[in-house]
Amino acid sequence: MPFAKTGKDFSKKTGNLVLSTFFAPGVAIWPPVIHYFMQIDTKSLQYCLHHTTAVQPVLQALERETNIRTLHPQMLSGPYQGMLLQLFSHMIRPRRVLEIGTFTGYSAICLAQGLAEDGLLYTLESNDEHAPIVRKHVHAAGLDAKIRLMLGDAAALIPLLDEIFDLIFLDAGKLDYARHYELCLPKLRSGGFLLADNVLWDGKVVHDEKDTTAQALREFNTMVQADNRVENLLLPLRDGVMLIRKL
Ligand SMILES: C[S@@+](CC[C@H](N)C(=O)[O-])C[C@H]1O[C@@H](n2cnc3c(N)ncnc32)[C@H](O)[C@@H]1O
Repeated sequence: MPFAKTGKDFSKKTGNLVLSTFFAPGVAIWPPVIHYFMQIDTKSLQYCLHHTTAVQPVLQALERETNIRTLHPQMLSGPYQGMLLQLFSHMIRPRRVLEIGTFTGYSAICLAQGLAEDGLLYTLESNDEHAPIVRKHVHAAGLDAKIRLMLGDAAALIPLLDEIFDLIFLDAGKLDYARHYELCLPKLRSGGFLLADNVLWDGKVVHDEKDTTAQALREFNTMVQADNRVENLLLPLRDGVMLIRKL
């Protein structure tokens, strides 16, 4: 059964997930539902999972190893968001992808699957501890030639990249999002996409005034919203994904 193992985890993680409507910047549409975020019930969620392509064995194996061998396996994108990244990548057919925050390589493998024939994905990671897991599963996915893992601090590595990217995935330290965004945006082609993960931070961005990470993400979301170089959509999927298109 697809997602048999991960479905449970998914429902747990998405207890606060909202499937709702959106409003235009500053302008309310559908007023009755603006403050009404519909909680998706477990049964409906299971239905969504069972009508989503089954996880590839290579990603299942990577998730299993991440659960066994790392301290914070919840950092991994997981099957539902992974499929979203994979499909976005297929839609864009990028030649160059940049990922900030590799962890064990789950999202890198998902994103790399949509690369153009001559495509390349750079993934930046400050912690070298998980590099053997990344390399092992990238190899198993047959993506050695497509994924370039770069170890070090993203803020130091991004300026060294002599590339223009079609797609960027921001998923490293949340306190650094604004900084990484500013470093990345000049390297994103006009019409290219940047996705920033976890921008709702388990609901704390909206509900917790004191949490430092939530505060940083609020500032990031406000900054993106005010940035006239881009158009954006905050998608209430999993922990919140900001979809950004450079104008
Ligand atoms: C949420 S995890 C990434 C998850 C991965 N993208 C996925 O979806 O499976 C964030 C990762 O960013 C890394 N990280 C944090 N700060 C960083 C920095 N300044 N430069 C590079 N990597 C960083 C962390 O070590 C961690 O592995």
